[in-house]
Amino acid sequence: MEMNGKLAIITGAASGIGAALTRIFVARGARVAAADLDAGKLAALAAELGSDVLPIQVDLAESSQVEPMVAAAIAKLGGLDILINNAGVGSLARVTELSFEEWRRVMAIDLDAVFLGSRAALPALIERKGNIVCTASISGIASDYGFPAYNSAKAGLLGLVRNLAIDYARNGVRVNAVSPGYTATPLTSPSSEAVKDAFLAAIPMHRAAAPVEIAEVIAFLASDRASYVTGQNYIVDGGMTAHTGQPDVLAMRRAARRNS
Ligand SMILES: NC(=O)c1ccc[n+]([C@@H]2O[C@H](COP(=O)([O-])OP(=O)(O)OC[C@H]3O[C@@H](n4cnc5c(N)ncnc54)[C@H](O)[C@@H]3O)[C@@H](O)[C@H]2O)c1
Repeated sequence: MEMNGKLAIITGAASGIGAALTRIFVARGARVAAADLDAGKLAALAAELGSDVLPIQVDLAESSQVEPMVAAAIAKLGGLDILINNAGVGSLARVTELSFEEWRRVMAIDLDAVFLGSRAALPALIERKGNIVCTASISGIASDYGFPAYNSAKAGLLGLVRNLAIDYARNGVRVNAVSPGYTATPLTSPSSEAVKDAFLAAIPMHRAAAPVEIAEVIAFLASDRASYVTGQNYIVDGGMTAHTGQPDVLAMRRAARRNS
């Protein structure tokens, strides 16, 4: 099996993309320290996948909890080959409506925890020539209405990924990011039907990604098959960012002709 004997930490493992990735890793032979805030969902995942999942409850918004989580995971696993910084949260408010507390919460989870977790994991990763994959977002590449904290945190995350990749290449550690577009997870489920329809209209593939479609790309980058890939950001968005945003003039002309 592709990941036989690999030892991994996945943050945000209890739901969505992280849960899909945990299932893939375990199915391919890895042991996973599954770190998440949600103890109930973690317990359900561990019950589903068995003893290859070691659940660790952690609040990544609390900087003091990040390094002890990584240390506990490495101790339980007996080493570390792969760190997946996947946990993330958003917030919806323009700068003038955004409290500093909310800005800090998003930064703490989406960026600070990645810095702290990666710093804590690097000595063990260097020992086993391991790698890091971070779940960023297309919102780190361009901007969205009302997303200042999320846009900034994910853009910062992409900067950190590139820096880690070049600084630790000489130590044999690879670092990459995956940037999902609209993905059907609890993070996006509060959206109304109208919001969903607007997303689908903007995606050339006209559908949301399933969590497993993002997880498969993360799994590739974390595997030895990606042994020469580092410092990269893989966009998985159904073609959304390939589009300039200009209208489909041809389709509009055809529709006008049909209606005339
Ligand atoms: N769903 C999308 O459309 C989408 C798009 C682009 C990027 N992403 C990114 O993908 C990643 C995974 O998101 P998802 O869509 O699977 O969402 P999700 O809500 O299904 O999963 C996120 C997980 O992170 C955990 N988490 C949240 N705050 C935490 C904290 N303080 N401490 C520990 N764990 C915490 C949650 O409990 C949850 O299990 C995130 O980084 C998100 O920004 C998602």
